[in-house]
Amino acid sequence: HNQPHQMLATNSPKDTSLINSDVAAPISKLTCDFSSVHSDVCTMEGDLRIHGKSATVYVVSASTFSPENSTIKVKPYTRKWEKETMSRIREVTMRSMPPAPYSFTIPPRCTVRHDVPTVVFSTGGCGTNFFHAMSDLIAPLYITAREYNGRVQLLITDYQPKWVAKFRPILAALSMYPVIDFDADTVVRCFPSARVGLESHRILGIDPALSRNGYTMMGFRDFLRSIFSLQRPWTSPISRSSGRKPRLVMVLRRHSRAITNEADVITAMVDLGFEVVAAGPKDASDMGRFAGVANSCDVMVGVHGAGLTNMVFLPHNATIVQIIPWGEMKVACRYDFGDPVPDMGLQYAEYEVTAEETTLNEKYPRDHPVFTDPQSLHHQGKLWEIFLEGQNVTLDIGRFREVMQQVYQSVTTE
Ligand SMILES: *[C@@H]1O[C@H](CO)[C@@H](O)[C@H](O)[C@H]1NC(C)=O
Ligand SMILES: *[C@@H]1O[C@H](CO)[C@@H](O)[C@H](O)[C@H]1NC(C)=O
Ligand SMILES: *[C@@H]1O[C@H](CO)[C@@H](O)[C@H](O)[C@H]1NC(C)=O
Repeated sequence: HNQPHQMLATNSPKDTSLINSDVAAPISKLTCDFSSVHSDVCTMEGDLRIHGKSATVYVVSASTFSPENSTIKVKPYTRKWEKETMSRIREVTMRSMPPAPYSFTIPPRCTVRHDVPTVVFSTGGCGTNFFHAMSDLIAPLYITAREYNGRVQLLITDYQPKWVAKFRPILAALSMYPVIDFDADTVVRCFPSARVGLESHRILGIDPALSRNGYTMMGFRDFLRSIFSLQRPWTSPISRSSGRKPRLVMVLRRHSRAITNEADVITAMVDLGFEVVAAGPKDASDMGRFAGVANSCDVMVGVHGAGLTNMVFLPHNATIVQIIPWGEMKVACRYDFGDPVPDMGLQYAEYEVTAEETTLNEKYPRDHPVFTDPQSLHHQGKLWEIFLEGQNVTLDIGRFREVMQQVYQSVTTE
């Protein structure tokens, strides 16, 4: 017998009559969805033969075959709207073949057989940036692969060893098999079903209405909490008369968007009644350990930046305070760390830095567009360089205190 027949025998017992037939009936199906602005996803089942080295998936004897789309290419990353990012993503080709006797291409023979589904995705788009890892890959992986309950093989193209090492605890919770470096894989792997590309609904979020299994961001956070054995599912207001203090973690940055008067800010928070945990980039770099720190806190405060992504580890109903740097950055900042907050079951507050509080003061006169028309610089593509990489902030303690006083009130009771 040839390979497709064996696949047939193992996968659809109903059709065993075909085993002795000379003509292979259609047994594979491929459907692709190109409608999302985030990602293209192809779903397939049947006789699938995957050769990583050439990034090719052979969909053998496909009932969905049509000559005009016998070859479909997908870049399995979730920032489809970002040309530059996508240019770094390897393309995976799905080659459909019609059932015999119409197929003239001979598919390669299986050298390794898997009896579980596979999910193919790329880690080439994000370095180890924690925000992108969570938003572009981990949440989408959860939506795409969690339903298999660990019985799924992950194939990673543009394999980044550092990324895989950092997120190994999460990958291990999603799949009980070691991940495979797709591009280096010379064997031909056969799978009963496959997904190429990750489903993605929104930035750092999940839309339950779009999720096959009704997954939610709350459920995603519970999943993370179980992986890192985090103790606090929930936080509720703390009684001031009990003598206990709400715990506040300050996520501090060092090279840009640093708070130059960090010590004064911390003193002010302590004066207000918070127990303050100051966390620099080094503290936050050990994900598993810092997940525990974040989960022990009731409030997280920080200037806009990837570190705020640690909000995923906060207990439900904790409060996140985003400090928005100078430069008409509200919309951009809310997009990443404001809009996703309610679905996570967290509370949100923000503090917007004024022209008096930015170190851009030292570099530009006050009649410069940096102050008079920041939008014009956004349009020139300088948002990152000037307003994200180019400033630190010196918070107005009195004004910041007022915002934090309200937060203190909301997380405490008499
Ligand atoms: C292939 O093209 C046909 C019609 O041209 C379409 O119905 C089908 O959905 C396409 N298949 C894929 C996988 O895009
Ligand atoms: C959730 O947090 C808000 C504000 O921090 C508070 O007013 C509310 O009582 C909390 N809800 C619960 C159920 O603890
Ligand atoms: C921000 O402050 C740090 C020191 O804490 C300094 O190294 C860095 O150059 C400053 N960045 C900007 C953009 O001013």
